[in-house]
Amino acid sequence: MGITYNEQNRTFMLRAADSLYAIAIVDEGYLCHAYYGKNVADEDLTYLLRLDENPFVPSKNNRDRACFLDATYLEYPSFGIGDYRECAFRIIDENGFSATDLRYDSHRIFSGKPKLEGLPATFADENQAQTLEITLKDKRTSLYVTLRYSTFENLPVIARSVSVENKGCVNIHLNSIMSACVDFDEDDYDMITLYGSWARERTASRVPLHHGKQLVDSARGESSHQYNPFFVLCSKNADEETGDAYGFSLVYSGNFKALCEVSQHNSTRAMLGINPLDFEWLLEPNARFDAPEAILVYSDCGLGKMSRTYHDLYREHLIRSKYKYSPRPILINNWEATYFNFDDKKLLDIAKQSAELGIEMLVMDDGWFGHRDSDNSSLGDWFVYESKIKCGLKNLVDEVNALGMKFGIWFEPEMVSPDSELFREHPDWAIQVPDMDMTLCREQYVLDFSRKDVRDCIYGRLKDILKSANIEYVKWDMNRQLTEVGSAMLKANCQRELWHRYVLGVYDMMERLVTDFPDLLLENCSGGGARFDPGMLYYSPQIWCSDDTDAIERLRIQYGTSLCYPPSAMGAHVSVCPNHTSGRWAPFKTRGIVAMAGTFGYELDITKLSDEDKQCVKEQIADYKKYNKLMICGDQYRLGNVNSDRSFDAWIFVSKDKSQAILSVVQIDSRISTHSRRIKISGLDENAFYKNNEDGSVLSGKALKYCGINIKGLYGDFAAKTIYFTKCDN
Ligand code: DGJ
Repeated sequence: MGITYNEQNRTFMLRAADSLYAIAIVDEGYLCHAYYGKNVADEDLTYLLRLDENPFVPSKNNRDRACFLDATYLEYPSFGIGDYRECAFRIIDENGFSATDLRYDSHRIFSGKPKLEGLPATFADENQAQTLEITLKDKRTSLYVTLRYSTFENLPVIARSVSVENKGCVNIHLNSIMSACVDFDEDDYDMITLYGSWARERTASRVPLHHGKQLVDSARGESSHQYNPFFVLCSKNADEETGDAYGFSLVYSGNFKALCEVSQHNSTRAMLGINPLDFEWLLEPNARFDAPEAILVYSDCGLGKMSRTYHDLYREHLIRSKYKYSPRPILINNWEATYFNFDDKKLLDIAKQSAELGIEMLVMDDGWFGHRDSDNSSLGDWFVYESKIKCGLKNLVDEVNALGMKFGIWFEPEMVSPDSELFREHPDWAIQVPDMDMTLCREQYVLDFSRKDVRDCIYGRLKDILKSANIEYVKWDMNRQLTEVGSAMLKANCQRELWHRYVLGVYDMMERLVTDFPDLLLENCSGGGARFDPGMLYYSPQIWCSDDTDAIERLRIQYGTSLCYPPSAMGAHVSVCPNHTSGRWAPFKTRGIVAMAGTFGYELDITKLSDEDKQCVKEQIADYKKYNKLMICGDQYRLGNVNSDRSFDAWIFVSKDKSQAILSVVQIDSRISTHSRRIKISGLDENAFYKNNEDGSVLSGKALKYCGINIKGLYGDFAAKTIYFTKCDN
């Protein structure tokens, strides 16, 4: 770790573990990006900017007619001064002008990492991080743009954020303020993004870059099922262990844009931040705007190291919950067991049977409030539905506790049903455009969380419920996206702020929740995994991965998710077969192995399980107790790629000291039963020996990696197994 500034060549060198990021001030104060990649010695890297070549001519008075700034590697390109690639910064001033010319003004380097007011962000103390702030100034408007870069001890990570302050005396409208921009000299990269839909979230897609712009985004008000605020630029040869990989991840839960542009000069501009589409922010004199944080990771050892870096960073420096490194209570959720059709007696039947098998927490899902018997009513009326929970919530929770189990509850705080007391009293609390029909989706509207009065009311209701009984877990759901985006409280010139103000409102609510209930286990959810983003991880150590609980489909979803997010954050449950979403059948054992690569739990009517499956539940719980710590604290190595090879999937969790590991293998396409599958195992200490606890054999870490082991006995559709390895003497 180390950030330095060299006065002579006016270069900032940001060293993060074995990576280096270099920025130079050139010519008339333009800030240029010189290098990002493997660390090198302290040398002058400004030659990489081709300062001596035509067409590098940032100076205003000496521009080549054809080039302007198109060939310059700008660190934070603004609109309107001749860089015709995607820009990071754009305004409109009171006179309607949009050009800004950002030049170096000042900088400071300090220990630690400042907070971002009202926004989730990575954190570190004075000994763990160092920060560089570079302030740029637009002379005409007196706008000051501060670029912030933090490096962390031992991690190849750069955390970037941007703030703008209006020190002029007129109003400015901010139209675009991206969180990170990096210009690469080459274009021979692949771009990996995560796409999907409901029940198919975060499927990895890898395509070669091409000339022009390629992007993923969201304009739905949440990070979305469709694309994740994350992408990778990697060399063509990059796989799990080799090649360059640059990860870009945005700590934000609203509209985003993630873009790569290959220019006429075959360079690549990568950019990430709030989606400028329909975004506007009024900056009055002396006002400031903070854009969310972007996390850049560089790996010289392929995708595996990149992912493990994100996992370490997010576990250590983003997730705040006391649960982040501790096994979560094994829960059973009644959603797929009952949907809306339950009462207190049914829940207690499920709880009794669950307690006998060793399950530790009952989660009461959607349908316990107002008069909710289907999805067409009561959101907003967070009062117990007494004809369903006849014994009262406190008694129900007490009875569950008496069985030795914890109790959790579902909320969807951001929503309101047209059929609700709340909506009848406050129709203006829903997001809407006057004189325009409001779009109904899942029979509900979105509350205007930019309004403090709305948040106060909903938070009060949540808090009353949580205080009324011993509730130790909350599932926070969000089941529709935003339409007709307008607020009854915002002035015309601030209406476009609602997208971002809504997200800030959600963050404010979650912050209140985790502050008032510090021991609460919060699980985020959004119609499955539509808000699986780092912003949410700041408040909740786990997020429901997908409504698709089919173990085989989950392989692909969990593979894509693991590119950026730690397995300990992936909500994953065992459900019944045929699976409610896919109709597929997979062995109970396999369902457990796949769910155990996430938070693990059950989502089925346990009272209806066969004795054989109940026995399997007991075995799974015993395995969870034995291995879960290893899974949530260890390093994950992906050994298969279910995107490109649909014949099997495999992964291993290795303890940080490499003394133990648990391997999981799932067969997708069956093989001739006499011919075992060979799997090469990475992540172990190559110079040590390991005992295979399935057959007692001992092999070196080197043999396990380069020769592999034969996985035997996987017979039948979707068979799976785990093998536990312990370090031993030869
Ligand atoms: C969507 C969630 O993903 C499900 O798990 C469930 O909680 C339903 N919402 C309830 O409406």
